[in-house]
Amino acid sequence: MTLHRAEGVKKYSSHYSYALHYKWLTRFYDPVVRWTCRESTFKSALIAQAHIEPGMRVLDVGCGTGTLAIMLKKAQPSAVVKALDGSENILSIAKSKADSEGVNISFVHGFSYELPFAAGEFDMVFTSFFFHHLNREDKLRTLKDVHRILKPSGKLHIADWGKQPNLFLRSAFLVVQMLDGFETTTDNIKGLLPEFIAQTGFENFAETRRVYTALGSVSLYSAIKL
Ligand SMILES: C[S@@+](CC[C@H](N)C(=O)[O-])C[C@H]1O[C@@H](n2cnc3c(N)ncnc32)[C@H](O)[C@@H]1O
Repeated sequence: MTLHRAEGVKKYSSHYSYALHYKWLTRFYDPVVRWTCRESTFKSALIAQAHIEPGMRVLDVGCGTGTLAIMLKKAQPSAVVKALDGSENILSIAKSKADSEGVNISFVHGFSYELPFAAGEFDMVFTSFFFHHLNREDKLRTLKDVHRILKPSGKLHIADWGKQPNLFLRSAFLVVQMLDGFETTTDNIKGLLPEFIAQTGFENFAETRRVYTALGSVSLYSAIKL
């Protein structure tokens, strides 16, 4: 089912959704996420768990406005950072942000389930607030393609909405579901992402931390391609 056609989305794409569901809301994405989702806390924790080493090749999939990619480059300036998104519109925002912060990131237009990269190209792949935009089929296709582009021993680091620990946060999360849709978000809050990660060939998958926000609980995950 196609919900939206982003610029360049091919006809057989089964699902695509903009950062805040509607393209015209994109300009509000950064302030909304900064003020409601403890963005700096969970993105810093995701980077801290990764221990990126000098010279590593790192990819941010579904980079949106580029906040995580910029943080990654600043955390390890000698890493090679690439960032991919399906929307050319949001990539232009990301490029301007990176330019104004003086960091060198290679931004690439493409889709997560047919990544335009060679097998074994990356040491680490990151995603944040991304998998809840994909239906189940595309979550699995994406994880398989991420597995392909990682080197042996390469690592996957994910931050996204996870299982909600109580009724209060579960109710708060309805706001996200009403905006981003129930089809793509339900597997996240059923806590199924680790199962999907395991099904697609990764090992040592773990939920490493939960960060509670005004809109629900964000889970951090890590996994290895052995
Ligand atoms: C909610 S935003 C997250 C942005 C950023 N990672 C963050 O943490 O703020 C989700 C992004 O995923 C992109 N996107 C959605 N489906 C995609 C796909 N299949 N492949 C690549 N990008 C996709 C959207 O264009 C959007 O920029």
